[in-house]
Amino acid sequence: MSDNETSILCAAEIIGNSRYLCVSTGAGVSAESGVPTFRGAGGKWNTIDPEDVATYEAFSRDPEFVWSFYNDRRVNGASCRPNPAHIAIAQLEKRFGDNFTLITQNVDNLHREAGSERILEIHGNIWRVRCTCCNIEYEERTNPLPARPYCKTCGEGAWIRPAVVWFGETLDFDLLYRANKALESCDALLIVGTSGYVYPAAEFIVIAKRSGARVIEINVEETPNAGFVDAKVLGKAGEMLPRILSRITGEG
Ligand code: OAD
Repeated sequence: MSDNETSILCAAEIIGNSRYLCVSTGAGVSAESGVPTFRGAGGKWNTIDPEDVATYEAFSRDPEFVWSFYNDRRVNGASCRPNPAHIAIAQLEKRFGDNFTLITQNVDNLHREAGSERILEIHGNIWRVRCTCCNIEYEERTNPLPARPYCKTCGEGAWIRPAVVWFGETLDFDLLYRANKALESCDALLIVGTSGYVYPAAEFIVIAKRSGARVIEINVEETPNAGFVDAKVLGKAGEMLPRILSRITGEG
């Protein structure tokens, strides 16, 4: 049996024997759906500086440029569908019911499309916008949006912005509180497709470990978490997660 096969079995054993499962996902879980990651090969931040598109300062300086970046992502995102990793995570939720929380840094909505419900989108959602005047947030599916998108209520001159969290902005307190509660309550944490460089998600493993949880990581490469995980599964999430799930359900 290969090392990875052993890790898959170990991951299935940890999840299968858990009472409460937390899943933390990053861009890698959507890579096989055609959504580019941020770092590593093909990553967005290799060709564009996040300071120019993912900060409030950038938006204040040049909202049209920031919107052209988000419009591109929305246009690409519209043709992306959940992959087997999203679907396996939604199936795990069905198994655990209320003893399950999915915390995602992704803004692409693919977990919801796959059927996930107990989900905390800590970085927001690219299909939602917020008015910079009245502060009201709403779903906006027009795609692409005009180069100068204005609030549907306030009108001309009242810029809307993507309802996502930019660098330097604080995360929604309620979401973060619920994420922390879930991480403290879980006895297994499954981390999928995140580089582990961006806080607060980077320290989810610390919170869960401190509370006694066992940790599984699925990634195509080593991450800073490597030394702390109980089962490290190397490979694509869309291939590895269904294999773990079928071991748990006994259908594999
Ligand atoms: P990153 O782009 O930093 O990392 C993606 C991770 O997914 C890497 O560790 C890859 O090795 C891994 N990966 C790629 N393809 C995979 C696959 N098919 N299966 C499994 N793993 C795969 O993305 P995040 O960690 O999500 O924030 O980045 C965190 C935050 O930084 C993002 O939410 C975004 C970004 O800047 C903001 O924009 C505020």
